[in-house]
Amino acid sequence: MSTGAVGRAYPRLEGPAKVTGAARYAVEYPVDGVSYGWAVPSAVVRGRITRIDTTQALASPGVLAVLHHGNAPRIAPGPPSELRLLQEPTVHYRGQFVAVVVATTLEAAREGARLVRIDYDTGPHSTVLTDDHPGLYAPEHVNPSYPTDTAEGDFDAGYAAAPVRVDATYRTPAYHNNPMEPHATTAQWHDGRLVVHDSNQGASSVQATLAELFALPPESVRVVAEHVGGGFGSKGYAKAAVVLAALAARHVDRPVKLALTRQQLFGPIGYRTPTIQRVRLAADTDGRLTAICHDAISQTSTIQEFAEQTAVYTRSMYAAPHRRTTHRLVRLDVPTPFWMRAPGECPGAYALESALDELAVAVGIDPVELRIRNDTAVDPEQGRPFTSRNLVACLREGAQRFGWAGRDPAPRSRRDGRWLIGTGVAGSSYPARSRPSAATATARPDGSFLVRVNATDIGTGARTAMWQVAADALGVPPERVEIRIGDSALPTAPVAGGSMGTSSWSWAVIRAAQALREKLRDGTPPTSEVTAAADTTEEVGGQPALPRYAYGAQFVEVRVDADTGEVRLNRMLGVFAAGRVVNPTTARSQLIGGMTMGLSMALHEEGLLDERYGDWVNHDLATYHITGCADVESIEAYWLDERDDELNPAGVKGIGEVGIVGTAAAVANAVHHATGVRIRELPIRLDKLI
Ligand code: MOS
Repeated sequence: MSTGAVGRAYPRLEGPAKVTGAARYAVEYPVDGVSYGWAVPSAVVRGRITRIDTTQALASPGVLAVLHHGNAPRIAPGPPSELRLLQEPTVHYRGQFVAVVVATTLEAAREGARLVRIDYDTGPHSTVLTDDHPGLYAPEHVNPSYPTDTAEGDFDAGYAAAPVRVDATYRTPAYHNNPMEPHATTAQWHDGRLVVHDSNQGASSVQATLAELFALPPESVRVVAEHVGGGFGSKGYAKAAVVLAALAARHVDRPVKLALTRQQLFGPIGYRTPTIQRVRLAADTDGRLTAICHDAISQTSTIQEFAEQTAVYTRSMYAAPHRRTTHRLVRLDVPTPFWMRAPGECPGAYALESALDELAVAVGIDPVELRIRNDTAVDPEQGRPFTSRNLVACLREGAQRFGWAGRDPAPRSRRDGRWLIGTGVAGSSYPARSRPSAATATARPDGSFLVRVNATDIGTGARTAMWQVAADALGVPPERVEIRIGDSALPTAPVAGGSMGTSSWSWAVIRAAQALREKLRDGTPPTSEVTAAADTTEEVGGQPALPRYAYGAQFVEVRVDADTGEVRLNRMLGVFAAGRVVNPTTARSQLIGGMTMGLSMALHEEGLLDERYGDWVNHDLATYHITGCADVESIEAYWLDERDDELNPAGVKGIGEVGIVGTAAAVANAVHHATGVRIRELPIRLDKLI
């Protein structure tokens, strides 16, 4: 019996605690005898530390220790990885953490870090991605485990034979995740057991990594991540801060708090790789695609491989008899790139959805109509029908709400004083997957319930959504349910990532609730606590491999100053089909947040790398520009009432990422419509328009 909690717009459960400052983040827990760590980054790109002089630092008031490769606790042997910090004198990229100063105050640690003297032997480096780099290679697979290349039909022949062709190369720069809360950890060792309060997207996975690095049984590691101030993917796995804090706490034998600075987030935590993408499309004169090819180039580091799955979006989005996708990678002397909201789909959709707009212009048909004509009920990749695909419905509803009809397709056809006005559209999709999770549900004698699952709320509203799902599954009003998340001591659960959190956790929560109701057949509160546990490993593993995707369409109206090239957004509107929406308030915020981040990618964000010193020159929020509220005057998100019974018990598709996919293309397409200038290299800066 559903109580109607799912689908209702509840405010976030932890909202009052957050706005009153009562909610504690990773380094805000009071700890007796705590000390502070300050990470010291390498000043060279590639080389070897020949000498570390800590004399001055150690003599500075309050400094307790300086950890470096010569004295830091050992990490268990294992494959090379960016997390094997302070273990050897080698430097693989500029900014790699090579020392940690621990002191009684944060200020003393910072001053100590300034006083550490490090000498290096350096060698030549290569940090800039080019499409003719001699080191280009095909990785074994791309993130997380997609095939590197795919081919069907005969692309070259299909392309050559078509009457209409588009061949365009798109470039995106490095993008840096900037969660409000940086990567931060409070680490404590008690009798050989490690307890960390850490800012991450999945305490179970961080627990597993720490256990491996410190050669401990997992039950000797506890990771608490009760409140997390954003991550966007950058906190998807254990990262440097937690490893450094744990090493430091062990070395000084007292608790250590360590937070990376804003500047230290630019690189070492991972970033979205720059991409170079060539897209070739061929179509008949009606705009029906006959051949599609997407060749993507990106970078990784010399210590760990991360291969952005840039072209996977193109494998499933639109059909054509002749198809090819490839990924090539180059190892540069840079930090390892990592997840950033919709890795792969986001940069890939910028290229493909821009190329489709170029095709619409070449064929002379409306870009909404072009996408509708190329819709497909069968996944071109798997050859099976999508469990639900409402891209066309999103396009139609979006066009109607936006007022698309009657649009003059000619560029520079609308003008308002000095402003050129243009509109653009893009399609969007993101896989709807689930991962195994565990959960428990407990009935208490007072008639209340406790639901436990190690989900993470990185600011999305996940805690509230799980609470709603639990209430419905238990068949009781949500006020009688207590939800506990964000602690590895709770039942093991997957990360808040890949838009899979809600679908995965809710699956286990629903099964635990069902098992509990079986135990409490008469429905009256038990005389003592009764608990039921669920683990969906088998059920999720046994789910048939069907093409499951969320869809969306973004519509954008820009105005561009005809003299200065300044771009402003009059409005942006997205319509999404993402299964059942658990909480309209938090869902809207996810979709609007995704679109805002896509706008930021289109107009502002750009990691500018200087090959001479092998690092980004803009590494703070003064120089790395991000979109603010004033950059878009109206932003709206809508969703279709979609039901899909082949997803998961909650019927959800995940909404964390579909909002960003396609957005940058919609903006670039609108800018082309306004100005006649096609921007194939983000961001769309005014100097590229005049
Ligand atoms: Mo998201 S980039 O999968 O955390």
